[in-house]
Amino acid sequence: MKQVVVMTGAGGGLGSTFAKEFAKKGKQVAVLDFNLEAAEKTVEEIRKAGGTAIAVKCNVTDKASLEKARETVRKELGKCNVLINCAGIQDPLAKTTKEAYCKDDEKETVVAKPKDGTKEAYDEILAKDRTLFNIDAERLLKVMNVNWLGTVMTCQVFAVDMVGTEGNSIINITSMAAYDALTMVPAYASSKAAVDMFTRWLSNYLSNEYGKVRVNAVAPGYFLTPLNHDMYVNSDGTYTQRYYNVIHRTPMGRLGDTKELVGALLFFAEPEMSGYITGQVIAVDGGFLSCPGI
Ligand SMILES: NC(=O)c1ccc[n+]([C@@H]2O[C@H](COP(=O)([O-])OP(=O)(O)OC[C@H]3O[C@@H](n4cnc5c(N)ncnc54)[C@H](O)[C@@H]3O)[C@@H](O)[C@H]2O)c1
Repeated sequence: MKQVVVMTGAGGGLGSTFAKEFAKKGKQVAVLDFNLEAAEKTVEEIRKAGGTAIAVKCNVTDKASLEKARETVRKELGKCNVLINCAGIQDPLAKTTKEAYCKDDEKETVVAKPKDGTKEAYDEILAKDRTLFNIDAERLLKVMNVNWLGTVMTCQVFAVDMVGTEGNSIINITSMAAYDALTMVPAYASSKAAVDMFTRWLSNYLSNEYGKVRVNAVAPGYFLTPLNHDMYVNSDGTYTQRYYNVIHRTPMGRLGDTKELVGALLFFAEPEMSGYITGQVIAVDGGFLSCPGI
């Protein structure tokens, strides 16, 4: 029987590649995304290539939306066998503008928060310095909510259809930021460290003789997508200093190609290949985590 694979964030840079590659392997893919247009584009490409996929609008921070998505998946494809939690965000306003404390940073205590919902107000704040002292708590929480709580809630909802059947598995997407305290992204790094811990916690909880669901994670290194483009590419198309810092610490000397993540995902998804593996993370990073860069 063809596996039913549910992927969140599957209209995005990484997720759309995962969905297309899984469909090529004969999986039935439910492409879940907050951005329905992006999800539909992925599905259109899959169908053109002869694969099976459906697009489902879904917000991973809203349980009712997730439950509605599960109903659609059940009706159109059947119960979920593999869940890949790929929805995630970076929020420019949840990042600091400096890598480390500068003298008198603490004197700027006005919270870096847009006055209203307009683009002008947003851009005005974006152009200002954000430090530990004035970063907006709501923006930090938003990143935690999508990246961590969104992963937890998606598992809550889809594991209902997965428990008790041999061969099912959950795959979370973490990051290099789960291991290394990457500068400027305090909320993102904390959220991914939380996803890493939740992966192990959930494997303890779900992988027993009753649950039977394996839970693992893939930690991507650096792949250019809409999520991180502004951190690595300047507006004039040249690379940023941060890009060169990453490359310097990557023994393979280049960014990854999104297709290079698919093997690790398929490995965890296939019980024939990884049936006795749970609670593990595979880093797909060109060697970044093994290299101190000096
Ligand atoms: N690109 C990289 O180098 C990299 C590295 C490490 C980890 N990651 C992780 O991989 C995952 C995918 O990242 P990406 O680079 O493809 O980013 P992306 O921005 O291209 O795609 C993310 C997708 O998630 C969707 N999304 C956002 N909030 C959502 C919500 N509340 N509900 C449902 N969908 C939502 C977006 O609409 C988007 O399609 C993220 O978890 C990210 O943290 C990416």
